[in-house]
Amino acid sequence: MLREVRHPGKGDKDIVELGMVDQVSVDGKRITVLLRFGEHRDPLTEYLVGSARAVLYRHTPAGAEIDVRAVAGRAVEDKPKKKTVNDLTLDEVNNVRHIIGIASGKGGVGKSTVAVNLAVALTRLGYRVGLADADVYGPSVPLMTGTEGAVPQALEENGSEVIFPIEKYGVKWMSIGYFAQPGQALIWRGPMACNALKQMILQVRWGVLDFLLIDMPPGTGDIHISLVGDIPMEGAVIVTTPQAVALSDVEKGVDMFRNEKINRRIYGLVENMAWFTPAELPENKYFIFGKDGGVKMAERFGIPLIGRIPIVQSIRESGDAGEPAALSSGPDGLAFLELARNLAEQTEKE
Ligand SMILES: Nc1ncnc2c1ncn2[C@@H]1O[C@H](COP(=O)(O)OP(=O)(O)O)[C@@H](O)[C@H]1O
Ligand SMILES: [Mg+2]
Repeated sequence: MLREVRHPGKGDKDIVELGMVDQVSVDGKRITVLLRFGEHRDPLTEYLVGSARAVLYRHTPAGAEIDVRAVAGRAVEDKPKKKTVNDLTLDEVNNVRHIIGIASGKGGVGKSTVAVNLAVALTRLGYRVGLADADVYGPSVPLMTGTEGAVPQALEENGSEVIFPIEKYGVKWMSIGYFAQPGQALIWRGPMACNALKQMILQVRWGVLDFLLIDMPPGTGDIHISLVGDIPMEGAVIVTTPQAVALSDVEKGVDMFRNEKINRRIYGLVENMAWFTPAELPENKYFIFGKDGGVKMAERFGIPLIGRIPIVQSIRESGDAGEPAALSSGPDGLAFLELARNLAEQTEKE
């Protein structure tokens, strides 16, 4: 009889067909019916409850007590309960050999440039590589790889969502930027940012990889501690520039990974913008920020200096054009290949 009640907002389907009749119970003279509504308030709630009550009055003997109630939220048995961030497992990163964070104490030192080019260079050496752009404040991987506007495919599997990375230049890319509207400011803070990041790494079907690089947010805050705690990150690479200011910031980055809460290995230091080389004089090196800041820093902390990347106009231009410099065979491309080789070597060491 409840099939007589139709939902005018849903193609006039009846409430039974729509799966809204959640429970019908009869206790003596009392008939109780629970109607299940969605998470959002349905403007027709009152109308449908009233209609159901009227139908029941019409079809039941006089004296029956009719109780029709609306309940909100999805029926429990309706669908398997969606997994929440806290239920995420490590299944998707189980086949990744090395998860390595690319960090710096400070923004603007070229962390993303190094991360993207290192990923491409490792691929050129024959490794299987993925990169997760975890910089919630300024995701730059879509621009640097020419994948802006790409929409990662998602599918539901056994009640949890799996996201597929974007593949280009032989690397699997994932960025929080793929989920934001162009120009939309990302205002995630604190726990929300942490959850989004965790999801963006642990729900991605990375498959079998030798390296999964994580372009970490700048700074040394809670996000980092939570990220390292939730993801089986083996260690980090720290990016710096030769300027003294950047160096003291990098010190904080180094301390963070050596902090007992995090305590992960630092595979090496990369000195970015180590010298300037004009395109027309590729043999010339101008150490405009000082010659051996990176070398000294590496010595002081006992961390190997695994890469020195020059400032070359083509590095910035290729980044802006979405074609990483590491694809080239010029001095810029070679500097990244050298870095990739050194990192691979470090990870083989105990
Ligand atoms: N070695 C380099 N030579 C030339 N430009 C560079 C180099 N490294 C980074 N840049 C440029 O500097 C800017 C900041 O780099 P980015 O990688 O976004 O820094 P971060 O991720 O640390 O904030 C970008 O415009 C980038 O193209
Ligand atoms: Mg960046």
